Amino acid sequence: MSAAAPLPQVGDPVESIDTPALVIDLDAMERNLATMAAFARSHGVRLRPHAKMHKSATIARLQREAGAVGVCVQKTSEAEALAAAGVDDIYISNEVIDPAKLARVAVLAKRIRLAIAVDSSEGIERLARAVAAAGSTIDVFVEVDVGQGRCGCPAAAAGQLAQHVVSHAPPEGGLRFAGVQAYHGSAQHLRGDDERAAASQHAASLARAAQASIGAAGIACLLVTGAGTGTFAFDVASGIWDELQVGSYLFMDRDYADNVAAPNAPRFEHALFVKSRVMSRGAGHAVVDAGHKSHAIDSGLPRVWQRELAYVSCSDEHGVLRPHADASRASLPALGETVWLVPGHCDPTVNLHDRYVVVRGGLSGGVVEDVWQIEARGCIS
Ligand SMILES: Cc1ncc(COP(=O)(O)O)c(C=O)c1O
Repeated sequence: MSAAAPLPQVGDPVESIDTPALVIDLDAMERNLATMAAFARSHGVRLRPHAKMHKSATIARLQREAGAVGVCVQKTSEAEALAAAGVDDIYISNEVIDPAKLARVAVLAKRIRLAIAVDSSEGIERLARAVAAAGSTIDVFVEVDVGQGRCGCPAAAAGQLAQHVVSHAPPEGGLRFAGVQAYHGSAQHLRGDDERAAASQHAASLARAAQASIGAAGIACLLVTGAGTGTFAFDVASGIWDELQVGSYLFMDRDYADNVAAPNAPRFEHALFVKSRVMSRGAGHAVVDAGHKSHAIDSGLPRVWQRELAYVSCSDEHGVLRPHADASRASLPALGETVWLVPGHCDPTVNLHDRYVVVRGGLSGGVVEDVWQIEARGCIS
């Protein structure tokens, strides 16, 4: 919704929410929140959910109340925005290399409990300089490449980098070595549960090698942190990970729902929707008012929720719907009718919106319970 659109009021019926709008089904989200918290508790691992997904201080608070030790973010500006809104324990699970940005990180570390990832000696030196100039301290995780081929050092180099971090330890320096970051992003979206299990096992063997390298350097590896919605159940079974960074479980986008579920993993429900409305009808199709500017399609098109319809093409402000192959034209919605979309990918969808409209009592018949700002929306630097 733009600033000019009417803001939903608490108690308004769902039908009155202007479209397109980003809507949370609060009952479903609360069940997802409780399910993941119970899983972490029963397996004796810490939960530090990824707030890059929801970008909301309110949701971060709900996650903390459900037992999370803090949240992760990927960007300096995300950490600043959430800290300004009251979040006080944040891990930037990513490398920051620009000195001006590191200076901001170091200043933020004076106000909240802050951690960050490193994967190079140069990065450690720059971080140490920034923290020394600010007079702050920060927890540091050495990121290891556990199979994705993105950020992270080779497992065998983890000990050397840990030693480098420790050389800047308090009281002379401000870097507290905290452990290993082991996250395999592309493994999360492998469709087959057997494929994800194999990727998780490979990641576990590399994380184990990193722990050994750090141990051989005479340093205690306190925590191994990582895992996402696609692999957390396999990761926990390996016994290597101490802390889960899962993000998408809370909203469950269409892409994650398309994964073959792991046999012993808890199930999560769709809790994030784009409310759209039919604005035009053709002979065999209907057009809704939600396109690229309402939801991201990098992981594929949205699913039409509980209708015999497919969202077949997307443009800036439009989406074209057609009946499923085995459904009749009669299943096409009427002009003005509401159509609920399950976004293909929740993170970049959220980043398109200023606020969530939070609904209690279901998408049909429910009411607006609240409106939550997305404080870190647009924080990409
Ligand atoms: C470093 C890191 N940890 C955790 C996550 C959370 O993953 P998911 O949303 O798939 O649960 C991500 C997501 O991209 C990530 O980049």
